[in-house]
Amino acid sequence: MKTVRIELADGRAYDDLVGHDLLTEAGSQCRALGLGDRCALVYDQALEQTALPRVLDSLKGAGFEVVVIAFGKGERGKRLESVETIIGSMVEAGLDRGTWVAALGGGVVGDLAGFAAASFLRGVDVVQMPTTIVSQVDASLGGKTGVNHALGKNLIGAFHQPRLVLSDTSTLRHLPEAERVAGLAEVVKHSVIRDEELFCFLEDKMESVVSMEIDDDQLDWLIARNASIKAGVVAADEREGGLRAILNYGHTIGHAIEAATDYQTYRHGEAVILGMIGAGRIAAQLGVWSQEDEARQQALLTRLGIPAGIAAVSAEQIFARTKSDKKWRDGKLRFILPRRIGDAYIADDIEQEAVRAGIAHVQGLDRIVSQ
Ligand SMILES: NC(=O)c1ccc[n+]([C@@H]2O[C@H](COP(=O)([O-])OP(=O)(O)OC[C@H]3O[C@@H](n4cnc5c(N)ncnc54)[C@H](O)[C@@H]3O)[C@@H](O)[C@H]2O)c1
Ligand SMILES: [Zn+2]
Repeated sequence: MKTVRIELADGRAYDDLVGHDLLTEAGSQCRALGLGDRCALVYDQALEQTALPRVLDSLKGAGFEVVVIAFGKGERGKRLESVETIIGSMVEAGLDRGTWVAALGGGVVGDLAGFAAASFLRGVDVVQMPTTIVSQVDASLGGKTGVNHALGKNLIGAFHQPRLVLSDTSTLRHLPEAERVAGLAEVVKHSVIRDEELFCFLEDKMESVVSMEIDDDQLDWLIARNASIKAGVVAADEREGGLRAILNYGHTIGHAIEAATDYQTYRHGEAVILGMIGAGRIAAQLGVWSQEDEARQQALLTRLGIPAGIAAVSAEQIFARTKSDKKWRDGKLRFILPRRIGDAYIADDIEQEAVRAGIAHVQGLDRIVSQ
């Protein structure tokens, strides 16, 4: 087991424990935090047969009284109505201020149950138990919780840091391949912005990482390494004033692609793959990173899997959606660009033409990918 410590301003901190079969220790780990005897376990129904029984056994074995709350609606159900349902179940079960919430699932359950914990009786403790790559390397760390609104994603939310994160890497072996690829997009992102050694590891092993043929210790290393990168950035900038923005590498064009396709065509991670290719081209054309590094990134992303079909989407639509990112000032865009593999920076002065060229490059590549 590895421990990643998430240090926040004003001395607050919590641990992210990363290891295989870790959920069998959920009870003892939560006991060690001195949490109350009663808890609400909000879980993703996809885990009904796998992780859920292990967590329940462990919590009950440690003497906790557990109110089990199933959630099975996915991203579409990440909205206020579900928060009300969860809180309703908690009230009906007689839970009060001394209780806490365990969130078992991917980023959807983590965000939703985390927000329910942030708002129930103005806030009770939450323990995150992430079960996807996205949630173990990103969503469960940093304290952002929330739900979607009909007018936009993640518009309602609160910062609510967990007391503990339990990242059981064994759960990742049950993930469908498409979810693994989407999660690994964020892993590649971390490597490009922060960690050349991680990038080299991925160059060495991409296929076996995608197929989950790496052994337990390597998988633990991979997840912990990525969690440390996110933790390091969050520690430096808890509320997203400056440095935390570099985690948005690949996300400006990525978000624009998701919005231009009504969130129907691509998983978030798939859009980020396309977004990193676009940002890489912008950086190369500006001469801030080398063509060799751009080619290395593109080769690695090709092995991960570049999603097809983006050439069929209107370039103007995608471009227009980068504007709704509220990062335009005086006709120039704030953009996270790589300088070399392992280092990125915030560029404040990217011209419209450069962004259009980045989008055109991604679409041009699709004509090759889709053939
Ligand atoms: N709070 C943050 O900082 C932050 C950061 C990134 C993403 N997010 C949010 O996270 C969400 C995406 O997270 P996600 O990709 O984990 O999506 P998700 O929670 O929907 O999980 C993806 C799919 O995998 C299934 N699943 C989960 N764990 C599984 C397992 N171990 N085995 C088999 N299937 C499993 C789920 O049922 C779902 O179908 C989005 O809502 C996004 O907004 C939040
Ligand atoms: Zn992302």
